[in-house]
Amino acid sequence: MARAKIALIGAGMIGGTLAHIAAREELGDVILFDIAEGTPQGKALDIAEASAVFGKDVALKGANAYEDIAGADVCIVTAGVPRKPGMSRDDLLGINLKVMKAVGEGIKAHAPNAFVICITNPLDAMVWALQQFSGLPKEKVIGMAGVLDSARFAYFLAEATGVSVEDIHAWTLGGHGDDMVPMVRHSTVGGLPLPELVKQGWLTQDKLDAIVERTRKGGGEIVALLKTGSAFYAPAESAIAMATSYLKDKKRVLPCATYLSGQYGLNDLYVGVPVVIGAGGAEKIVEFETNDAEKAMFAKSVESVKGLMEACKAIDSSLV
Ligand code: APR
Repeated sequence: MARAKIALIGAGMIGGTLAHIAAREELGDVILFDIAEGTPQGKALDIAEASAVFGKDVALKGANAYEDIAGADVCIVTAGVPRKPGMSRDDLLGINLKVMKAVGEGIKAHAPNAFVICITNPLDAMVWALQQFSGLPKEKVIGMAGVLDSARFAYFLAEATGVSVEDIHAWTLGGHGDDMVPMVRHSTVGGLPLPELVKQGWLTQDKLDAIVERTRKGGGEIVALLKTGSAFYAPAESAIAMATSYLKDKKRVLPCATYLSGQYGLNDLYVGVPVVIGAGGAEKIVEFETNDAEKAMFAKSVESVKGLMEACKAIDSSLV
């Protein structure tokens, strides 16, 4: 059977890391696409040479023409600009919306059967726009944010409790902004929901509150440290988990920016919810039971996403 073809649209920090992981995992052949000439070719060649050391058989190619993504099974989109210190994800909207238009048209023309994972920020609005620009089915276009935000949440919990990250299931829903919704009651350490963990003295309520806050601002913490861009290792790992679940039909339940049609009482927008990812793409949304406080946080986060969608519509009147 032919190897899967993975097109990485954007060969910057996340794109290069994605290519490296995809090759090491032998997930499929990789096309690294970018508008910058030389960058995708150089990174592809560098990783291809490394494959002779790590011993995996994959073909890697750098490209500046959309023709090269033809027939891709998966497209992972990181094209655009990242944050610099002092910027919010929303500050990227104007530039990255134009990039999504070009990328969406390229995917529509050359890889209409792909499963598309968007990483470009501001995420929930960009994936919504990308779906419209590409015209692909809504279940085949999804956004990566929740896996990353939940991984940050899980890591901070592991650090605070001394429990392996493998035994922590953390969930962060809503939009990929500072008002995202870490689901404290639904997240578990060794099977114990976090409120129970506090009751049993594993960590204090104050510490848990601080972890929730740090999770919400997790992206900004990295931007402030790096100074020249935003996180790339954890975002790349997160998208690879999503791509793997699709390519291997694993049906993992992952928190992703997914198109909602009635679930969580919402319609016609993308926001982070747990979803089964399998060969059909975003196959089934898992609806968590939520209390009034969680509903209010979710509603606030959704309002921010809707605000970004309105800002996109004001820039590009083709968006509905
Ligand atoms: N088509 C293709 N590639 C493009 C385009 C375009 N129209 N515009 C920009 N690019 C490329 C740039 O040339 C660059 O190589 O996108 C790449 C982005 O890479 P980085 O600047 O290194 O950004 P990165 O850290 O990878 O983040 C990319 O993901 O997490 C989000 O906020 C982040 O929106 C940002 C995106």
